[in-house]
Amino acid sequence: MEAKKALTSEQAKFKKLLLSLPKTEIHLHLEGLATANTIWKLIKKNNLQYKNINSKQDLEKKFHVTSLDDFLDLFINIIQNSLVCESDIEYLIDDAKDYFLKNNIIYSEIFFAPSKFIQTGFDFKKIVKILTGGAEKIKKNHNIDIKFLIDVSRSFGIENAMKNLDLVLANPSPAIIGIGIGGSEKKGPAKDYAKVFEKAISKGLRVVAHAGEDVGPQSIWDAVEHLKAERIGHGISAIQDEKLMTYLAEKQIPLEICPTSNLFTRKYTKTLKEHPVKIFFSRNIYVTINTDDPTIFSVNLIEEYMNLLVEGLFTEKEIIQIIKNGVYATFLPESRKNAIWKLIEAKLPK
Ligand code: ADE
Ligand code: ZN
Repeated sequence: MEAKKALTSEQAKFKKLLLSLPKTEIHLHLEGLATANTIWKLIKKNNLQYKNINSKQDLEKKFHVTSLDDFLDLFINIIQNSLVCESDIEYLIDDAKDYFLKNNIIYSEIFFAPSKFIQTGFDFKKIVKILTGGAEKIKKNHNIDIKFLIDVSRSFGIENAMKNLDLVLANPSPAIIGIGIGGSEKKGPAKDYAKVFEKAISKGLRVVAHAGEDVGPQSIWDAVEHLKAERIGHGISAIQDEKLMTYLAEKQIPLEICPTSNLFTRKYTKTLKEHPVKIFFSRNIYVTINTDDPTIFSVNLIEEYMNLLVEGLFTEKEIIQIIKNGVYATFLPESRKNAIWKLIEAKLPK
């Protein structure tokens, strides 16, 4: 990871402005919002033992992943595994609330991946009740809107993904607006999940897909052509395919770019300076900026924007445009998107 540079006074002023702007975030995972503190609390409460994890510091050290496979091992086998009953999810919702307040995020679409929990006996109806109740509480106490996208997962096979979708359909909630597909991109080619997505779309759910994070551009083609994904999570391997970049720009399919996450998983870029996001933006591809798993990657949304500014990838004006993109790439009704953008515009220097 690159060393942090001190901010110039101009940059510090922009950081203040960023904080004052109400923002949206559309690619982050509820489990990746859990702090090491929370996971350590759950490990103690639930009397769990993990090899080589004897303190909170040991746990924090585990957060230094260097590939998607390492990351998914941590995500599934330690973080998710540390929740042993449905009500443990409330700890994660509480961490999410703190994160949104700290970053002045007023609307977010958050992934939740139920596969591991269902395997260990969680009741999906209870999960939905907790997610819905959590969203209602955050709205009531802080006026922050959150919606969930259920990550049907490509790590547990096609049947499991269809089962997840059927559970979503059997337990409708205003807090759950669609599905996504995360997990191991190498193990689960998008096209294998076409039937799952076709059914989700036919039932009125919104659909997104992680693609081009750990596998080449064909994975992105598959996500748009076979899954009809409305947005692409990451999409960074598109840099290897001129035709795909032109297509993404023409169709204005939003890319949910997560720069810091990409530096941890190290597949297509190892430094922020060479991250393809700058080229995507200059090619008129619809770029949004997100954190993916903020506590695991020790980053937040304000820092993501500031890193891009400080490293010279974007100007302040371009960052405001990307924040606007983040509003218009949500699944909110057009009137609400316009209202959020108005709130932002009102805070911008004239
Ligand atoms: N689950 C949580 N974060 C993920 C990522 N970056 N890619 C795939 N699955 C994930
Ligand atoms: Zn993700």
